[in-house]
Amino acid sequence: MSSAHDSLIRLLRAAHAGERAAALAYVGHARSVRDPAEREAIGRIGAEEIAHRARVGEMLAELGGAPSAVRERIFSVIGHTLSCFCHVTGWYCPMYGAGWIERRNIQEYVDAAAFAGQAGRTDLAAELLTMAQVEWDHEQWFRAKVLGHWLRRVLPVWGAPPPRAHLGAVPAAGR
Ligand SMILES: [Fe+2]
Ligand SMILES: [Fe+2]
Repeated sequence: MSSAHDSLIRLLRAAHAGERAAALAYVGHARSVRDPAEREAIGRIGAEEIAHRARVGEMLAELGGAPSAVRERIFSVIGHTLSCFCHVTGWYCPMYGAGWIERRNIQEYVDAAAFAGQAGRTDLAAELLTMAQVEWDHEQWFRAKVLGHWLRRVLPVWGAPPPRAHLGAVPAAGR
């Protein structure tokens, strides 16, 4: 059975590669939208993913880990591919896909924070929960975009995350 420390490193390696894919995808996504406000917002979100990736890389080094070369390559290809797809799939699909992925990213950092806490790194746990909150903000932005489009009646919107202030809270017994 792996320790909390090992589980934390495993999740941070996944997050490090995932942030690269996200940052690359948002470059194409930002270029594909016509609305300047949307373009600016997606560019800002992409910059926040780059900052996350840098910090996650520092955490990995501090914990004695390192990014996975294979995973980094795979997610780089995924990011480039999504970046190109944004120009051909229209407005809705990239907004929906981004929101769905952001929802997963929230949980990834919440889980990483829990492992950091279990590993005795409450300092990293607090930072990782802040990162989860930033992902929550991203998810809300894309959710609002999707909810404002008629296609949401065709494709149900992904499950909502917990309230921002409750991220990382331990559920009460029996829930
Ligand atoms: Fe991120
Ligand atoms: Fe994000």
